[in-house]
Amino acid sequence: MKPGLRHLVSIDDLSLAEILALFEAARGFAGDLRGWAHLCPGLISASLFYEPSTRTRLSFESAMLRLGGGVLTAAEMKSSSASKGESLADTVRVVGGGYADVIVLRHASEGAARLASEYSPVPVINAGDGSHEHPTQTLCDLYTLWLERGRIEGLNVVLSGDLRYSRTIHSFVYALARFGANIVCVPQPGFELPPYVVQRLSEEFGVEPVRADATRLGDLAQASDAVYLTPQKPHQLSLFTDATNLAAAALPLERVDALYMTRPQTERHGGTEGNAEAYPKLGKRQMASESLRDAVVMHPLPRRDEISSDMDEDPRSIYFKQASRGVPIRMAILAHMLGRIELSAPPQALDMRFYPVRLGPNPCVNPSCISRTESRHVTPLFKLASRLPVRAHCGYCSHEILAPLVGCTTTHHFHERDAPAVRRIRPDHLVFLRDGAEAAHLGFRSGSRSAPVG
Ligand code: NCD
Repeated sequence: MKPGLRHLVSIDDLSLAEILALFEAARGFAGDLRGWAHLCPGLISASLFYEPSTRTRLSFESAMLRLGGGVLTAAEMKSSSASKGESLADTVRVVGGGYADVIVLRHASEGAARLASEYSPVPVINAGDGSHEHPTQTLCDLYTLWLERGRIEGLNVVLSGDLRYSRTIHSFVYALARFGANIVCVPQPGFELPPYVVQRLSEEFGVEPVRADATRLGDLAQASDAVYLTPQKPHQLSLFTDATNLAAAALPLERVDALYMTRPQTERHGGTEGNAEAYPKLGKRQMASESLRDAVVMHPLPRRDEISSDMDEDPRSIYFKQASRGVPIRMAILAHMLGRIELSAPPQALDMRFYPVRLGPNPCVNPSCISRTESRHVTPLFKLASRLPVRAHCGYCSHEILAPLVGCTTTHHFHERDAPAVRRIRPDHLVFLRDGAEAAHLGFRSGSRSAPVG
């Protein structure tokens, strides 16, 4: 990665202060969308879209044009040189090498934007990487909440639908946790938040999931005040993952501030769509619940039938307003990434805990990870979540690395990942091993008899 270059790969790349400063900038842009063409003349953004898009691509392009810049569009990347076998790494090197000043990338593989950021000579903005993250949609969603509610901290936000594969949900839930909002999950059964997202929420943001059955939510909501208010976890954060009935799930909360619906991400289900009948649906009947009286209804769009059209005229429905806010927020993002506005906010401290996988096969087993779908040019990366037992996540797709054994590249000893000796292995010397045979094949021997490690 070029030093000094900033990318927007994950919502975590922005500090909370920067996010709030982006909202202020967006509000300024929204005041007169046609008054900012002096900000980016001569600059070009390239939209590289390997997956379909309406709002994200058009709002980014509208934003760039309104800032006075130009736009290159490759909305059908499958019909580009990618169909001739060109790698993403090569494509972004070419496009960033004089064709464009910023790249807006949508790709089906999880971690694609991180890979692109390692090779691109210009900033890369993640416009959706598989079912992993969609940080700019999250900025649009948070901006909408901030405008409608005046704050994010302490809001009660219900997330509903396909929480497993919705990338908008994953980025949104990390940001809500960082801002200290209360999160209630109402998934389609079988489409709960994926384990790696729940792990990150707990490991990095101090959110503890509470298994709740909808009929008992009231009791659990009361108990959560006491459980989660600790100095390490300054916000009262609660996450209910088993509630399947929308109205009932909302009951224990005196007041829901926002209800965020998502469509089933059928293109990522591989034919296992679950019980469509059980998909949470929202209409006038559900919205008659007392706790939803003042809830705003949000949706990243496109919707299918999870919000009935009889809700469109309801003043609580703000999904079209939310979509229109995509333009000013993306003006703010582009102007910031291109260095055309100064955010008076400290940036996020760069996360340096990414380590390359030095030996053995790729330990990431997620078939949709860019480290698996595009193995050329990709050195697998990992992030360490815990030293004992060793717990690590793929640096691209964030899925947990499930290796029962770990080795040390200097001593060539291997251990169970919960053996006390693993604590002494330096992270940059760690090797993930599937079993003893693989360990032996790579030249490791068992270090179970208190051998020195380094
Ligand atoms: C979302 C996406 O692409 O993830 N759409 C969007 O960007 N507004 C949501 C979806 O496709 O369901």
